[in-house]
Amino acid sequence: MEAIEVRLHLLEGGQVEMDDLQRVFEEAPDFARRVTGLLPGQSEAQSMYSMLPEGKLYDDKFVYGIYFDRKMVGCIDVIRDFPTKETAWIGLFMISEKYQRRGVGIAAFNILRNYIEKWPNCERVGLAVVSTNDVALPFWRKVGFQETGKRTPYKYDRIEAESIFMELELY
Ligand SMILES: CC(C)(COP(=O)(O)OP(=O)(O)OC[C@H]1O[C@@H](n2cnc3c(N)ncnc32)[C@H](O)[C@@H]1OP(=O)(O)O)[C@@H](O)C(=O)NCCC(=O)NCCS
Repeated sequence: MEAIEVRLHLLEGGQVEMDDLQRVFEEAPDFARRVTGLLPGQSEAQSMYSMLPEGKLYDDKFVYGIYFDRKMVGCIDVIRDFPTKETAWIGLFMISEKYQRRGVGIAAFNILRNYIEKWPNCERVGLAVVSTNDVALPFWRKVGFQETGKRTPYKYDRIEAESIFMELELY
């Protein structure tokens, strides 16, 4: 496959970036439907940008835009030292539908992994896949994640499913 040029840019919350981020959510409606049963809402970007796990501070939250051909085509939300000091937690990793299956996700993940590997004490990356979105599992397996065996109930509006926990050991 021909090498494609993907870049990550740390978002700072400016209006142009937030408009792009909202567009990316709107360009991935299948994902929203699978995990919420609904179409993306009008303030998805703002809620994702401001959402923090309990007990964490914004110093440990990083929201990246994924750029391809100078256009934002995806986004990543990653939390440092969560839920343990040794773990980086991917809260969201999403590519606009029209750019899926073109190698953008794998290229973006490799860049992210490079950043995370430089975080002191970080030994693994964790995430949870909602079982109604199990189409994402092959992607995570492909980049090296394995299921931990932990599953917890997941509920959103009318969706009742499970969160499937996955981890990637960095070293
Ligand atoms: C999952 C996601 C991030 C993958 O990104 P992507 O850019 O489409 O993936 P890539 O093109 O880099 O795929 C890399 C490899 O992963 C695997 N893969 C990716 N999507 C797949 C799918 N839908 N079904 C089966 N395998 C898949 C394939 O092995 C693929 O290699 P190939 O195309 O040469 O066969 C993207 O589809 C997405 O954003 N989905 C909606 C949001 C989402 O579900 N995020 C994950 C939440 S846990």
